[in-house]
Amino acid sequence: MKLLLEVIGVNNSKTSLNQQIPIWLMRQAGRYLPEYREVRSKAGSFLNLCYNPDLASTVTLQPITRFGFDAAIIFSDILVLPQAMGLQLEFKEGEGPVLENILSLTELNKIAVKDVTDIWEFQKVYEALALTKANLPVDKTLIGFAGSPWTVATYILGGKNQDADYTRKIAYEQPELVNKIIDLVSEQTILHLGGQIEAGADIVQLFDSWSGLLTPVLFDEYVIKPTKKIIDSLKQKYPNTPIIAFPRGAGMQYQKFLTALNPDVIGLDYMVPLEQAKILQQQKPVQGNLDPLILLLTKDKIKIALDQILENLAGQNRFIFNLGHGILPSTPIENVEFLVDYVRNFKR
Ligand code: CP3
Repeated sequence: MKLLLEVIGVNNSKTSLNQQIPIWLMRQAGRYLPEYREVRSKAGSFLNLCYNPDLASTVTLQPITRFGFDAAIIFSDILVLPQAMGLQLEFKEGEGPVLENILSLTELNKIAVKDVTDIWEFQKVYEALALTKANLPVDKTLIGFAGSPWTVATYILGGKNQDADYTRKIAYEQPELVNKIIDLVSEQTILHLGGQIEAGADIVQLFDSWSGLLTPVLFDEYVIKPTKKIIDSLKQKYPNTPIIAFPRGAGMQYQKFLTALNPDVIGLDYMVPLEQAKILQQQKPVQGNLDPLILLLTKDKIKIALDQILENLAGQNRFIFNLGHGILPSTPIENVEFLVDYVRNFKR
């Protein structure tokens, strides 16, 4: 039985406190691993790696083989979706992603594709999922993912480093443009997550990395509304596939988000206070929220931070251990080993 699915309570599985605490890390396949860097350099570019099923599956499985994490997240990126919709995308060495922008209603014609699941690049992503599923031990969970529409829209709208004022200003000044982009992205996100589920994903996660840029009014419009549409639509089509929603930086909006959207798991960033995490956990299983920077420290400091989280959240079987954001490329491998070992041996 898959540990993550047990915590989520799929198939009315019995949960017991003797069970281990499931653990995986966001960005667990990445540059902190020498075996990742090797495959990455062989692939030539980040996107070549994403669209090569053999290599993508290989790097997806690397952290499972090395650390025994309970879940594998398919190696891809949230920005392959706007690329599949017709926008140019490049990952520049040391600079991060450069995506073609849409800055006016007339430029909406840059978006050409009707159904992203038909394009060859996404066929490769689904092949990578199927291949990973075939090679993944049966007790491990396979996670598919996409960006939430607002976060993907911030890149399409050219929010340089997601400059909060720039992006919020566009949201105020050009609501028609933002709404159209969000609608188009939402529609394709539903299809892409469906494609991943059909290819073998056991769970899907929505990353809303930039939800924290918005005021409460804009948060309702651009985070809650479109994310609800995606979750409702997936629940109708795939009622047995759990959804993890991660509204990073949502702060005061976390409770409203959980109530309005009712995802199966709520992802907590590292700014969520543990008192609030406990209140959210009474409603749904939670995932998170260790600050990734902690993994750069000495083991005695890591231990203190882990005890705080585990003593507050591991008492019930409604907890998936994770970081509050992606693991940093400079993380020492031995600290990840220490983390996994510590969580595995924690007595509730
Ligand atoms: O292991 C996993 O978690 C799966 C793979 C994954 C990647 N990106 C691989 C990646 C996932 C789930 C993502 C999500 C993603 N991508 C988000 C949401 C989560 C978050 O971090 O907030 C966002 C905002 C992106 C966009 C993105 N992709 C940026 C801003 C960058 C550059 C910054 C960086 O870390 O380099 C990327 C590149 C990227 N995506 C890398 C990886 C492993 C590094 C590129 C490389 O190895 O060459």
